[in-house]
Amino acid sequence: MWRWRSLLPLDDGPIRYPLAIGDTPLMASPGLRRVSGFSQLYLKDETRSPTGSNKDRATGLVLEQGLRQGFETVTAASSGNVAVSLSLGAAAAGLRAVIFVPAHVSEGKLRIMLLVGARVFKVEEGYEVAYRLSRQAAREFGWLDRNTGANPATIEGKKTVAFEIWEQLGREVPDVAVVPVGDGTTLSALWKGFRELRACGVIEQLPRLIGVQAEGCQPLKCLCDHVAPPYTRSHTIADGIFVDAPINGFTAIRDVRDSRGAFVAVSDEALLQAIEILASAGGIVAEPAGAAAFAGLDPAREAGLIRQNECVVAMVTGTGLKTPHYLQSTGTVFEIRGSLREVDKAMASGD
Ligand SMILES: Cc1ncc(COP(=O)(O)O)c(C=O)c1O
Repeated sequence: MWRWRSLLPLDDGPIRYPLAIGDTPLMASPGLRRVSGFSQLYLKDETRSPTGSNKDRATGLVLEQGLRQGFETVTAASSGNVAVSLSLGAAAAGLRAVIFVPAHVSEGKLRIMLLVGARVFKVEEGYEVAYRLSRQAAREFGWLDRNTGANPATIEGKKTVAFEIWEQLGREVPDVAVVPVGDGTTLSALWKGFRELRACGVIEQLPRLIGVQAEGCQPLKCLCDHVAPPYTRSHTIADGIFVDAPINGFTAIRDVRDSRGAFVAVSDEALLQAIEILASAGGIVAEPAGAAAFAGLDPAREAGLIRQNECVVAMVTGTGLKTPHYLQSTGTVFEIRGSLREVDKAMASGD
């Protein structure tokens, strides 16, 4: 990621942050193109970041700045992946992480935070209160604040994904970029990156952005469409996009509109199906929020927002290895006793 430092708020000097960030693959998977029907589909595979999500770009830049400024403690509120990214990143950089998570945080993510010695506070009232507490603590105790929307370096770090997409597409940008939306920072950062490419004079047209929310938690889609949410109490299995009051919400709506894009919503069932397809046809293991952009392709096509022959980049933002309970395999395990006869029989059975 540091290759882009002339476009990042970072002075010269050696990089101290030890984890390798960025340069994730842009996959042109024939299987996924066939299954999805999009002939020019690319997946930006952010699951290959050091802690398995695109949050590592933001964490890397915030901690690099923090190390240079002499901070010892860093804090963030998170529905899961920021917390994992910050816990591991801080541990590797020799900093102390203080994390505020909502009660619905996934067990697998919590375990990683505790494994690396982060101080974790589980906040009963949920993410909004966790966010407020983390920000207050940063101010009160003089900690480095890595909160989305509070520290502008988070967007700066995440915008580098746009530069990579441009480079990997042979110095072009796609017609459409599809992104999962929780707080909306990932989307706005991508948009900022594309706009900076235009400001640098290396592209002319900007992509349209499709923001994907969960059917059970779609505040921005509803605001954009001027309709009331179709639920009384929000819920989704996709913790990364389970955000009722997105911190960067209004900016994300503005960015989507500026791009001539739109929001779509996907059901939890569609997320689970997308996880299965991404793995079986594309070789990418995603978590529910990470699979949301791919799941959003169908409703976006049905709504006439994307044509099948357009160049589309869908971001896969988080790995499913931290959330194995959502890997719903239907396959069978054959138990055998050391003889190839049973292998032969099972293979012939066609299962
Ligand atoms: C895997 C994953 N995808 C997407 C998002 C949504 O990103 P943002 O909150 O920047 O909209 C998150 C946020 O936690 C996430 O963990």
